[in-house]
Amino acid sequence: MLKIRVFLLFVFVGGLFVQTRADEGMWLLPLLKQQRFAEMQALGLKLQDYDIYHPDNSSLKDAVVVFGSGCTGEVVSPNGLVLTNHHCGYSWIQQQSSLAHDYLTDGFWAMTKAQELPNPGLTVTFIEKIEDVTDYVLSHLKQDPDSTGMNFLSPRYLNNLAREKTGPAFLQEHIGVEVEIKPFYGGNQYFMFTKKIYSDVRLVGAPPSSIGKFGADTDNWMWPRHTGDFSVFRIYADANGNPAPYSETNVPLHPKRWFKISTQGIEDDDFAMMIGFPGRTYKYYTSWEVAERRDIDNAVRINIRNLRQEAMLEEMLKDPAVRIQYASKYASSTNAYKNAIGTNWAINKRNFEQVKREEQEKLILWSKQLDKPEYPKAIQTLERIVSARKDLRFRSWMLDEALSRGIEFASAPVTLKPLIDALNGKDKAAQEKEIHFFSTLVNHFLNKNYSPETDMKIAKVMLKEYRSIIPAASQPAYFAQIDKQYKGDIDRFVEAIFKHSIFGSETNFNAFIKHPTVKALEKDPMFLFAKSVQDERKALTEALNTFDTDYASAHHDYVKGLLEMYGDRANFPDANSTLRLTYGQKKGYAPRDADYYQSQTTLEGVMEKEDPNNWEFVVPQRLKDLYDARDFGPYCLKDGRMPVAFAATTHSTGGNSGSPVLNNKGELIGINFDRNWEGVGGDLQYLPDYQRSIIVDIRYVLFIIDKYAGAVHLLEEMDVK
Ligand code: ARG
Ligand code: GLU
Repeated sequence: MLKIRVFLLFVFVGGLFVQTRADEGMWLLPLLKQQRFAEMQALGLKLQDYDIYHPDNSSLKDAVVVFGSGCTGEVVSPNGLVLTNHHCGYSWIQQQSSLAHDYLTDGFWAMTKAQELPNPGLTVTFIEKIEDVTDYVLSHLKQDPDSTGMNFLSPRYLNNLAREKTGPAFLQEHIGVEVEIKPFYGGNQYFMFTKKIYSDVRLVGAPPSSIGKFGADTDNWMWPRHTGDFSVFRIYADANGNPAPYSETNVPLHPKRWFKISTQGIEDDDFAMMIGFPGRTYKYYTSWEVAERRDIDNAVRINIRNLRQEAMLEEMLKDPAVRIQYASKYASSTNAYKNAIGTNWAINKRNFEQVKREEQEKLILWSKQLDKPEYPKAIQTLERIVSARKDLRFRSWMLDEALSRGIEFASAPVTLKPLIDALNGKDKAAQEKEIHFFSTLVNHFLNKNYSPETDMKIAKVMLKEYRSIIPAASQPAYFAQIDKQYKGDIDRFVEAIFKHSIFGSETNFNAFIKHPTVKALEKDPMFLFAKSVQDERKALTEALNTFDTDYASAHHDYVKGLLEMYGDRANFPDANSTLRLTYGQKKGYAPRDADYYQSQTTLEGVMEKEDPNNWEFVVPQRLKDLYDARDFGPYCLKDGRMPVAFAATTHSTGGNSGSPVLNNKGELIGINFDRNWEGVGGDLQYLPDYQRSIIVDIRYVLFIIDKYAGAVHLLEEMDVK
């Protein structure tokens, strides 16, 4: 086996040695060849750069898709079969579930295409083309008046430029195609993406949560891991293979590319790479932003979500209907909560402030030698802004976590003016139209996944915490009522607004709709509450926005300085939900003194963790039977054990969930689904000795589909060897 350690790579630039570890980085495909290809081949990659990414011909990247809005997926059959994570399919599986058929608990397998379930709202997006449009954007920015100074980062401005560039005819002729320009390196470079979006995506299969979410929140963000975190969907298209909304006449998509699947696995130190859509990273933070993240953003999130989740879980454990309703909300809340804890742990334990400070100081020194005062000035500006926005930022995070997101009825509809105008007028048709529109809004709010009792309980906890921390003068104006009318009694206040509001229950709403009056609307307590919270949100956003222009321009200059100092080659742009590749090796790690975690887990570990009395670690009987019989088919390791998950040094983040993990020949060997605890801080700073992607072994996926679910027909579609 190859023993080369392409670990420390010294790049000589501008009089400085820069260390770049080969495993760090989320590389842009068009820059891969110039930036990283040699290192990848030295690690064992057998492909050419154009096999992975070709600007005009088919390449591996064509089999990678955005799944929904925040995940990645991969095409694995000529009939549009897509693999992603169970947690990425989770809210869709939940939508399909009820007490009568609970696919979250029991799993779901379509045995024929007719049984595959449509999911209105779910999309799958292919990236058709990627172009460097830096010169085009810069030339427009020079000509355009820009009062805010923010055009260079504005999605609206940039996407308009993208549409101008292709012209309206192109977009009209190509169904489901959209174009987008995104800034990279803080706005020092621009790429345009041509995307094709399919909107008929059906659920094909999902294991029960006891496999797909095994270990749940306790194991989340942890290695060693034993979760079969995958689900199966299929893309449908019209007869011409074009995107089309759901229709019975749609047919499975015949995609340009699909991955071959390898059941051979890989060994420690073997090459592995991942292609996907990482969401956001903060590699170019200064030391002050690191502290701000820890002391404001994360600290508020940790405190508030802990309280909110406790209240939510209590209701969920009491009532199975609420458990289904709130399953997805709970999971996404705890996920970011635990991430914040892990990030703060890493910031402190691994001295991230110091790491970033050293980088700043290096740039200052270098700038002085080369007489480039703009870079030290940018650093000073960033320090000044972080300090100046401190209080506003704290209030903003408190408002968001505790109220805007914390209390569901804080987002009750508040733009009632058209309805009020219509009710005040004489035009019957206009009235009916507005009432109908209002009903849709309210139904959306009082939806299938809303439990007023749960929201009420959470609201009491949230309001108490918020009011004990934020001074009265800085709270939404309507909160004065709590003191005036209810003598500060929050419980009474919350109960009263639920009792009296149109939005408080379906009964109240139906009564209102029978005899709608302007007075009832204008006095509605939940409306007044929600409006007040939303007004405060607006005011805080506006106040914080006054820092944005200076911040954006200082950040732009800071990154520019680092790029100049290090040379472009050594740096990858922060993640921004665009297609990236990260590579590394399968590898275990030492989490602490005298301890070592191996890189592969097996079914033995599932059985070790089994706890029939803890919902997080229940093992389904059928899996135990297969285990006892050693009925693993062709999917087991050489020593007879059944592989479950493995760890690799690839640099991934949120959004990489569902990403294909490939061997040195570009064959699918796993699906990324998580990161280890010691690596959660990697969004700010990658640490090669500690950070690992957590990947479900494709052999476990195939075993579950084949032996557990008996969905053999799916395997026949795939290219498995
Ligand atoms: N931590 C993983 C990611 O960030 C998995 C989350 C899903 N699981 C959960 N228990 N919430 O998305
Ligand atoms: N679970 C994450 C996701 O949904 C990936 C884990 C990470 O942040 O690295 O994208």
